Amino acid sequence: MVLVITLAVLLLSGVVDAADDAQARYLLHCRGCHLANGTGVPPDVPTLVNEIGRLVATPVGREYVVRVPGVSQSALDDEGLAIVLNWILEMFNADTLPADFQPYSAGEIAEARKKVLADPLKYRRTLRLHGTRAPN
Ligand code: HEC
Repeated sequence: MVLVITLAVLLLSGVVDAADDAQARYLLHCRGCHLANGTGVPPDVPTLVNEIGRLVATPVGREYVVRVPGVSQSALDDEGLAIVLNWILEMFNADTLPADFQPYSAGEIAEARKKVLADPLKYRRTLRLHGTRAPN
């Protein structure tokens, strides 16, 4: 009974709902290419595991994450993308996420996604990633 009440309170307060919601969005909009566990299919589809934590360590890398076509052109709205990206960082990038990381906001997404990258792979090679000897 206590468990039922606890679950009901969690659901009502949106705690369980929010996490489920983020995962549901990921599964619907990103899994098709990046797979359920985020590993992708390198080299065609990059992994989202630990790489994104390294990318968000610099302002330009943080913006790049939103500008890649799979993100900027997504059917998700700004709020939905912020939720999914923050979830990816929390779930798949705990080992590389900077200690001072501030979650993406819908406003930040709205600005960055306007600047869709025409050639993301080429642009990515210009980024200097924290902890990487040769950018790939
Ligand atoms: C149709 C397949 C596809 C879908 C769907 C897709 N992506 Fe991607 N994603 C790619 C490919 C391919 C790349 C490599 C860059 C490029 O060619 O666009 C990429 C690159 C990325 C990168 C940059 C990774 C890096 O290390 O440079 C991020 C972050 C990313 N995707 C996140 C997402 C998120 C979040 C979603 C869901 C909202 C998503 N993608 C949906 C195919 C996809």
